[in-house]
Amino acid sequence: CGIVGYIGYREAWPIVLKGLKRLEYRGYDSAGIALINENGEHIYKKAGKVAVLEEFASGQDKSGTIGMGHTRWATHGVPSDRNSHPHTSNNGKLSIIHNGIIENYATLKEELINRGHEFKSDTDTEVLIHLVEEIQKIENIDLLEAVRLALREVIGAYAIVIMDQEHPDRLIAARKGSPMVIGVGQGEYFIASDATPIIEYTKNVVYLNDNEIALITREDLLIKRLDNVIQTPLIQELQLKLEMLEKGGFDHFMLKEIYEQPRSVKDCMRGRIYPEKGKVQLGGIKEFAEKLKNIDRIIIVACGTSWHAGLVGEYLIEEYARIPVEVEYASEFRYRNPIITEKDVVIAISQSGETADTMAAIEMAKERGATIFGICNVAGASIPRLTHAGVYTHAGPEIGVASTKAFTAQVTVLTLMAFYMAQQKGTITTSKLIELLTELDNIPEKIQVALESNDLIKEVAAKIKDSTNCLFLGRGSGFPVALEGALKLKEISYIHAEGYPAAEMKHGPIALIDEEMPVVFIATQNSSYEKVISNIQEVKARKGKVIAIVTEGDTEVKKMADYCIEIPDANEAFLPLLATIPLQLLSYHIAVMRGCNVDQPRNLAKSVTVE
Ligand code: G6P
Repeated sequence: CGIVGYIGYREAWPIVLKGLKRLEYRGYDSAGIALINENGEHIYKKAGKVAVLEEFASGQDKSGTIGMGHTRWATHGVPSDRNSHPHTSNNGKLSIIHNGIIENYATLKEELINRGHEFKSDTDTEVLIHLVEEIQKIENIDLLEAVRLALREVIGAYAIVIMDQEHPDRLIAARKGSPMVIGVGQGEYFIASDATPIIEYTKNVVYLNDNEIALITREDLLIKRLDNVIQTPLIQELQLKLEMLEKGGFDHFMLKEIYEQPRSVKDCMRGRIYPEKGKVQLGGIKEFAEKLKNIDRIIIVACGTSWHAGLVGEYLIEEYARIPVEVEYASEFRYRNPIITEKDVVIAISQSGETADTMAAIEMAKERGATIFGICNVAGASIPRLTHAGVYTHAGPEIGVASTKAFTAQVTVLTLMAFYMAQQKGTITTSKLIELLTELDNIPEKIQVALESNDLIKEVAAKIKDSTNCLFLGRGSGFPVALEGALKLKEISYIHAEGYPAAEMKHGPIALIDEEMPVVFIATQNSSYEKVISNIQEVKARKGKVIAIVTEGDTEVKKMADYCIEIPDANEAFLPLLATIPLQLLSYHIAVMRGCNVDQPRNLAKSVTVE
């Protein structure tokens, strides 16, 4: 979920509304805003996107210089008007917005019901604000203290903002496990889940830490910990630029982000590779350079697309640095009893740097003594602050819910890490590194060339857009590319798609193949080329429709495939960076042709801060 708050001298509604639109990537199944003005408090909330709320509230009283808003990704209770935030206390005087999950809400709710509280929604959030009211009443204390005590009873994760009708001069905010940034203006403060709603008003921000609670008035910001110790706010300057958050002439953020990849991959390598010297420098993990010589194993933890990047990382690190690698879904890893030692390095990959499961996996590995590296895109997010060291991807803000440029940037960082580790361990020669880095340096131009197949890809998309299923097959590092291609397609076009190692097809998916079934092959010229050709023949023999991603100038596959999309030739190590591009475009065009909401596919959220 996304949260926004404002207190100051300007009208709060437009600031909060615009902020919510920026945060819609965090969830968009319902939205709501609360404001206080001289007529009291006004709450507008609606199931659906922020635009639905905007429409609903048009013509109503929306004045006020204090307000807060929420865009939801449902956890407890279906998306509906009544389950939308803000929620109010029993007497209706306190209101709350919340991102996260209150795990012990059922017990708390029962106690409150016994004490005469009546609930208007099915959410865990409403329980929290009732609890605050109850504590304030019983203990006869101020709101800040009541919130602090209430949060000490709560198990779970939260970022919350609370407003009090009787004190329209203050907002209370708190966080544990869910992100929260406070923008510091002159005579005004902003609150948001990330900096994007704040950037046009101020560059000065304070990142609230876990277990901190803030009392925000127009003039002042007071931060204390849940154990009541006052904290000095650390004001940091934002590096983000406003134009990074706009579509810049493209129809969708996703398309813009696909086209940004020559630049984002370049930015990701800038200052890190020295092709003439055959050297990789990763300042972020430099202090662990010595340790890397003696590690036993690397465990990569991640979710979704980032997990696919991890699989590519496994190929690269094992190939070049000769260190055993395991790639784990963070959500599974955290609930096993994995064997982790002090000689292990855990690499956590996360675009947002906020994914709850990935964070929990890090915490567990950290407790067991592992060294944790992060690969994140959002600077200052929770994961980079939780890890021992890390490397940012520098892809710039990614707004489209389906990850594109963040994936290629993650793969780029993993490539650099593999080379860096190889360099430290002496498993690669300088001349080999010179050769590889020279080629890597040219990958951004090759991505540009790959993008030039867009028109052809659009034609292919038109041919297969009505399919109900689609298979993606690849071998070696083409396998994670296939998985990612399938994920992209299902996420945004709702066509059921599966990625498989090409050779595994005969152990199952082959049963699905008929003339209706498009099969996308990663069939570039590398060590598994001949094998993939055999797999293509197996599909053709069963009348499947073959779409192949091939190396420029290919003649063999062209004889068999129904459609071929070329990418520039490159060393096998860099294949994922190129082969992914046409698959992103293919999904994009299919989704557009099917009339789907490309940037905000149903039921998904970009940043999943609940487990
Ligand atoms: C969500 C997003 C995916 C993303 C995954 C992991 O499911 O929709 O695009 O890959 O979370 O997110 P992270 O920010 O940790 O990379």
